[in-house]
This record gives sequence, structure tokens and C-alpha cells, in this order.
Amino acid sequence: MKKIAVYTSGGDAPGMNSCIRAIVRGAAYHGVEVYGIVRGYNGMINGDIIPLNSQSVSNIIQRGGTILKSARSKEFLTTEGRKKAYDQLQAKGIEGLVAIGGNGTFTGAEIFYNEFKIPCVGAPGTIDNDLYGTDYTIGYDTAVNTALDAIDKIRDTADSHDRVFFIEVMGRDSGYIAIQCAIAGGAEAVMIPENLTPVSEVMETLQKGFSKAKSSSIVIVAEGDEEGNAQKVAQKIKDQMKIELDIRVTTLGHIQRGGVPTAADRILASRLGLGALEGLLRGEKNVMAGVVNNQLVYTPFHDTITKKKPVSEDLIRMVEILST
Ligand code: F6P
Repeated sequence: MKKIAVYTSGGDAPGMNSCIRAIVRGAAYHGVEVYGIVRGYNGMINGDIIPLNSQSVSNIIQRGGTILKSARSKEFLTTEGRKKAYDQLQAKGIEGLVAIGGNGTFTGAEIFYNEFKIPCVGAPGTIDNDLYGTDYTIGYDTAVNTALDAIDKIRDTADSHDRVFFIEVMGRDSGYIAIQCAIAGGAEAVMIPENLTPVSEVMETLQKGFSKAKSSSIVIVAEGDEEGNAQKVAQKIKDQMKIELDIRVTTLGHIQRGGVPTAADRILASRLGLGALEGLLRGEKNVMAGVVNNQLVYTPFHDTITKKKPVSEDLIRMVEILST
């Protein structure tokens, strides 16, 4: 394989640039020509494909976002869109792909491989940490630390005003960011999609805290929680709680997607980027590179998308024990 292309797609994640750098520098090391596809699948369809070399990725290891930009492409969901993308790759002579992204990215990559047989290896880049086949995804550690910084600040004001804060964190259908933030932020309760915590249980926890003279509390709500978003949960509790609480709601939002990647994310991204590239050059296809128990592994795209990665029961139990 002499010519490959790399792209970032879906929600951006801190560390994507470190990953691009590892792929480009790794390709140079192996004597492979490398191109960058701008704006993910949209760029593939439009032929927005640029040559990259070792210098193009200088001074990006520490930068948040993605120098290749990202998009969620509607056109790639159509057969015509994917055919256009294939024609563009053929015109450039691109023989293999490295896809950096999450669920949606790998869903597209799998369909594209099945239709056109251009080998593709993925590197998991998403703050959600929701991909089966890797213990951690690129961007997750930074997002947790960003959210935690905000939670610590909110605790200061919650404590000064004797308030209860409901803080909503991202994660789509997954509670990974929420559970980590709850443990590291010393939250009184956490609500995640993987483990239904009824509003009544949260009320009980808050009540217990107040009876022990706790004057403020933090409840972390994952955006995908079944009881609803933080605003809805807060309203239900306000309506049903016997004692009057001074409640505030904060949704952290896209702040969690930006910022300088942590050392852990830069190292993981470099390892997964190089792992994806070298897997591709060795003949891997239709798989995602991941790190499981500190070993580099390759998992079929199909499994990464369809299999659930459960949040450890230990972590859920820990929040319950340590909050009281
Ligand atoms: O997948 C990353 C993520 O940030 C999710 O946590 C969130 O649900 C979603 O993307 C938000 O997407 P958008 O940036 O398109 O609003």
C-alpha cells in the first residue's frame, strides 16, 4: 500500500490532532504517501483531499479540535453519496483509509468497505467512551477533566448558598463521563442510562444528606438518562420533594469537547493512530484499533458499533457508598 488518506468525522474530540500527527509521521516512517480528507465524509464526497507530510503536523499534538475539521455527513448516508466518495478516492489513487471518530463514523466506514472494498482501519475518537473494543477513547479523559473543573467550581458556589445543583454532562447514550465525574467530583448522586436511578431514589439520597446536616449537594445527570435531562429531573424533584430546596441546573454542553488534550489523551491518540496505520499497512481492514488491558487490539467495526460496553458495577456502587 503506497497511498492512504486519514479523516476525522462526527463530534470532534481533544486528541484527534495527536492522532492525525501519529498517522502522518508513521506513514512517513513507512514510506507511504498520506492525504488528509477535510470535513470527514463530506470532504470525501467533494474531493476535498489535501497532501500531508511530517511538517504539516508540526505543533499540533497539544491542540484541541481537529486540523482536518469534522462533520456529520447526510449525503454519505445515501448510495449516490458513497459512490461519489469512492470515485474521488479512485481519482487520487488512494488505496487505504484511517478513520478517526465514533459510532457514526464506523457505521459509515463499515458500509463503505462492504460496498467498495477499500480497506479502512479506525481509531476511536469520541469524548463519550462508548465504543466496544477499547477501554478508553481519544478525548474522553480530557472531557472528564474539563467537566470536573467546572463541577469543582460549581461546588464552591453550591456550598456558599446551600444549594442543590443538577449538572448535566455529555455522553449521548452512555454514562461514562457522568460516572467518572461523579466519583472524582464527590457527587451525592449520579443518573446514567446504564443503571436506572429513579427520581425517588435521588430524593431519598438528598433527604438523607440533609438529615445529616449536609447543606449543599451535587447530582450529575448524563444527557442520555432515562428520567430525562437535568432540567426535567430537577423539576420533578422540586415538585415532589417534601422539603423546599434551592435548586439550580447547569448544562455543561460543548465546553466538554474543546481544550488542550491531557497527557493521557495525547499518548492514547498517538498509540491508536500509529496502531491503526500499521494495522492497515499489515492488511487489517474493517476494524478499529483499541487498547484493552494495555494491549493494542483490533475489533471489527460491526462489534464496536453493536456491542455494549458496560459501565462497571463497582463504579456505580462506589458513588452510592462514598456520597453518604
Ligand atoms: O458524540 C459526542 C457528543 O458530544 C455527544 O456527547 C453529544 O450527545 C453530541 O456529540 C452532540 O453533538 P453535536 O455537536 O452535533 O451537537
